[in-house]
Amino acid sequence: MAAATDSDAENRRKQTIMHMRTKKWARPELAACPFYVNGGEAERGAWRQRFAHPERPLHMEMGCGKGVSTARMIADNPGINYIISDMSPDVLGTARRNLLEACGEDPENVQILRTDICFIHRVFGPEDRAERIYIHFCNPWTEHPKHAKRRLTHPRQLMQYREFLQPGGEIWFKTDDDTLFEDSLVYFDLCGFETVYLTHDLHRDGFRPNYVSEHEKKYMELGVPIKAAIFRMKAEQPDFDPTRYRLTPGVRKAALERLDRETASFSG
Ligand SMILES: C[S@@+](CC[C@H](N)C(=O)[O-])C[C@H]1O[C@@H](n2cnc3c(N)ncnc32)[C@H](O)[C@@H]1O
Repeated sequence: MAAATDSDAENRRKQTIMHMRTKKWARPELAACPFYVNGGEAERGAWRQRFAHPERPLHMEMGCGKGVSTARMIADNPGINYIISDMSPDVLGTARRNLLEACGEDPENVQILRTDICFIHRVFGPEDRAERIYIHFCNPWTEHPKHAKRRLTHPRQLMQYREFLQPGGEIWFKTDDDTLFEDSLVYFDLCGFETVYLTHDLHRDGFRPNYVSEHEKKYMELGVPIKAAIFRMKAEQPDFDPTRYRLTPGVRKAALERLDRETASFSG
C-alpha cells in the first residue's frame, strides 16, 4: 500500500470536517443561558467570581466545538471550574445542549464563552489564574505559511496564554495533523513551556483520562493516529519575542532534533 501523503491527509480532513449550518435556535438559547458570555472583555480579571466556588481549580478549553467530550469531562469533575470557548455561536449552541444533557439544567462549574481566541488577552488577565488549558484538534492552517499565525498553538496565542496561566500551569494538546503537531512542539519550546508528556499514538499508548472529542472520533475511525502532548509553563519568560520569530526549515529541524533527544523517554 502506498504511503499516505500530506495532500491525502488534507483531503481526508476536508471530507470529514463538518460544515455547521446556521442554527436559528442557537443564538436565542445562548442569550437566555445564565452561564453564557458573549465577548468576555467585561469579565477580564473577574472570571473566578462567576463560579459558586471561585477558589476551585480553573480549566479552560480553547475551540471546544460542540463540546461532546467536554460535557462528559465537566460532568465527571464537579470540583473543577471550566470555561469553554469557541468563536462560533452555532457550535456553542450545541455545546450548551450537550452540557445540559450531561450535567443537568444548572451546572455550577461551567461558563460558555464566545470569543476570538486570537485576541484572548482582552478577555483573560493574570487575576484569572488558569491551571490548565485544553486545545483539541484546532484548525491546522497548513495550506499557506502566512495563515499559521491563526493556529491556537501559534506563539502569538501561546504568549497570550502565558499571561493568565498560573506558574506551572499546563496546556493539553491533541491533533491528528503531523505538521501542526511538529510545528507546535517548536512553538511551545520557543514560548517557555517544557514537554511533560508526548505521544504519536494516544490510543495505542492508553493515556488516561482521555475524553474522545468529535474530531478525534472521526480521525480514529479513519485510522489516523492521534498525536498528543502536555506542556508545562516554565517561570522564565523567553528572552526574545517569539511572536516575531520566523520558523525557517533549519530552525525547525534543529529544534525538533533537540526535542527528540530530550523527550526520547516518552512513549509513542
Ligand atoms: C476542528 S474544530 C475542533 C472542535 C473540538 N475541539 C473537537 O476536538 O472536536 C476547531 C474549533 O475551533 C474553533 N476556532 C477556530 N479558531 C478559533 C478562534 N480564533 N477563536 C475561537 N474559536 C476558534 C472553530 O470554530 C471550531 O469549533
